[in-house]
Amino acid sequence: MSDVDDALAVLRAGGLVAIPTETVYGLAADASNPEAVRRIFAVKRRPADHPLIVHLADQADMKNWASTIPVPAAILADACWPGPLTLLVPQAAQVLDVVTGGRSTVGLRVPAHPLTLELLHRFGGGLAAPSANRFGRVSPTTADHVRADLGVDVDFVLDGGPCPIGVESTIVDCTVDPPQVLRPGAIPADEVAALLQRPVDPAAGPSRAPGMLESHYAPRCRVLLATDVAEARWLRDSSPTAEIIDDDDPVHYAQTLFARLRDADARGVDTVIAVLPPAVGLGHAIRDRLTKAAATR
Ligand code: TXA
Ligand code: MG
Repeated sequence: MSDVDDALAVLRAGGLVAIPTETVYGLAADASNPEAVRRIFAVKRRPADHPLIVHLADQADMKNWASTIPVPAAILADACWPGPLTLLVPQAAQVLDVVTGGRSTVGLRVPAHPLTLELLHRFGGGLAAPSANRFGRVSPTTADHVRADLGVDVDFVLDGGPCPIGVESTIVDCTVDPPQVLRPGAIPADEVAALLQRPVDPAAGPSRAPGMLESHYAPRCRVLLATDVAEARWLRDSSPTAEIIDDDDPVHYAQTLFARLRDADARGVDTVIAVLPPAVGLGHAIRDRLTKAAATR
């Protein structure tokens, strides 16, 4: 039996499987099994009104989950899937309330990871999956992070190696006009706008996307933000035990950010000073996660 065979058996029996994606690891259950989906919320200790993303094998499966496919959603799915983009669309009647927290929309995404795509194709249905961390912690980007957070509460961990992107998907609400970017991610808002050939609203509205409150991306250590290395060094003068996190390469910064915060926590570091990357491209997503991590103390 391969690992994908094992994962498939667990999902078909209503169990929970941690799945690798290109962004972060997800905690997956059969999206059409209410008991299984309810267990995700119990294991994560996540409030029931925080909706889950449904992961699909293929863009063609969208029609099973959406009541209509808005034109922007079709354009973005064509251009970006499989990939780090979640599209909010009006939900089809059969989508379970437990998945969408009773909302009228559903978030859909085709993830770009070979193991999870194989799993999804063989499973045939949708997999509801939030990030595979306990509620309030940073997302896991390795199988070991998942095991450290969830232990025996996850029935199987499909180990697909470290996640190549390292921050969660960009979320675009395609049910409003103009479409709105609710969470910055690997696909920047200006790329979304270019693909749609129109401006998008980059303002993240907290009420529209539960689960994106500041306190939801929190390491244990205190996080201070610096706009450049000189400011970081200046801040360290008054916090000599603090460690500085910085990276000139935004791709590598995103890839390693959550692992570095977890590592600092594991070593009992009390303060991390993070240098904000420039606010371009992937830099927006990194700045968003750092700002949320810093806002919690
Ligand atoms: O990269 C990702 O998106 C990862 C991987 C596993 O796919 N998933 C992820 O899921 O980050 P989660 O649950 O940790 O974050 C999804 C966010 C939550 O803040 C949730 O409230 C929001 O998306 N969301 C999901 N469906 C929604 C909907 N129908 N309306 C509004 N917000 C929604
Ligand atoms: Mg999450």
